[in-house]
Order: sequence, then structure tokens, then C-alpha cells
Amino acid sequence: MAITEPPRDCDRCPRLRQFLLDLRDEHPDWHNAPVPSFGDPQAKLLVIGLAPGMNGANRTGRPFTGDWAGDLLYAALHKYGFSKGMYDARPDDGLALKGAMITNAVRCLPPQNKPIGAECTACRPFLTDQIDSMSRVKALLTLGKISHDNTVRALGLKLKDYPFGHAKRYDIGGGRVLFTSYHCSRYNTNTKRLTEDMFYNVFSSIREFIDAD
Ligand code: URA
Repeated sequence: MAITEPPRDCDRCPRLRQFLLDLRDEHPDWHNAPVPSFGDPQAKLLVIGLAPGMNGANRTGRPFTGDWAGDLLYAALHKYGFSKGMYDARPDDGLALKGAMITNAVRCLPPQNKPIGAECTACRPFLTDQIDSMSRVKALLTLGKISHDNTVRALGLKLKDYPFGHAKRYDIGGGRVLFTSYHCSRYNTNTKRLTEDMFYNVFSSIREFIDAD
């Protein structure tokens, strides 16, 4: 099934749209639009982030590309065999994902990295569509609570049955497992809420699960 990406001038969220329009004036060379998913459509792993970062995905147009969160995420993908080529923080660095896809729960940059509930709801059909388009997906990895709650809702499941926490693992049917991690943001790593080892351990469990298939 083909996935529907939000149009460049998506107007589902007036606040986010205005934010992007203002940024287009300020930084005409930036992407400043919904950021499409990136990766392998045949992937067994789908990583779901929160939303584009100001100087990362919103600038470069590729999820997690150009900021700290991306340095850690792409390092983990590389270490566990989910990428080909070297990540160099640019969309033209030649990096390809191998068996993985990255998307965001909210496709447009939100002020202070905090989408409001209505924005999550408005953007959710794109996440549902992304998940539904991946016929081979086995592992879904949510990064942070907002990503997690949106993913649970996109799957048509109840939040109370799938509470967020770090390194949880939930059977979601169809042979698929939902893995969770604290978000790999600079804030979380600086405060040691998430260490590199904690993050890599989640990827190690995912690799083991996928390889056992
Ligand atoms: N960049 C993204 O694309 N998503 C995040 O959640 C964080 C940074």
C-alpha cells in the first residue's frame, strides 16, 4: 500500500503552519515543511520519533538529521546493522537504511518541541498510514512518551494497556512487538535519564527479536 505523506503546505494545524511560514521568511534555505519518513519500505523495524527538531530535520528535511538526537539514533542503527554508508548529518550523505524506517508522530516542527494534543490527533492519520503500509514490519520502536502514546492510538489500542516507560516490550499482535525507549534527546542524555548503553540495549533486543524471526 502506498503511503500518503502530508503535502508541503499542509494546513491541518494552524499553529504549526504559521510557525513554518515564519521560519520560511527567517531561513529560506531550510526545509520548513512536513518531514517525510525515511528508510526502507520493506523494513522490519519502524522507529517513531516525536517531531522534527528545529536545527535538525526541520532544517535538513530528513528525520533526525543534523542534531544531537540524530547522532545517537543513527549511531545505534549503524551499530545494529540497520544502515549502509556513513551518516554525516546531511540528507545527501549517501546513508541508506537497511531494514529500518524512521518517521515522526508529528511531521511538522512544533514550538519548544511540544506538539499539543490536537496537533498529534491531526497528524495521526499519517502515522497510521505509515504503519499500515509496512507489510513486513515486526518491531516498532517509540522514542519518548508522546511518540509512544500516539503510536498506541494509531494502532487502535488503549493507552492504559500499554503504559510508556523505558525498555518496555509489548506484544501488539500479528507477530509484532512494540519496543519503547526514552527519547534520545540531548536533554535526556545530558541528564543521564538515557545513557548510550541504555539506548543500545534496546536496539540489541530489537536486533535479536528480528533475527529470531
Ligand atoms: N528529530 C526528529 O526527526 N524527530 C525527533 O523526535 C527528534 C529529532
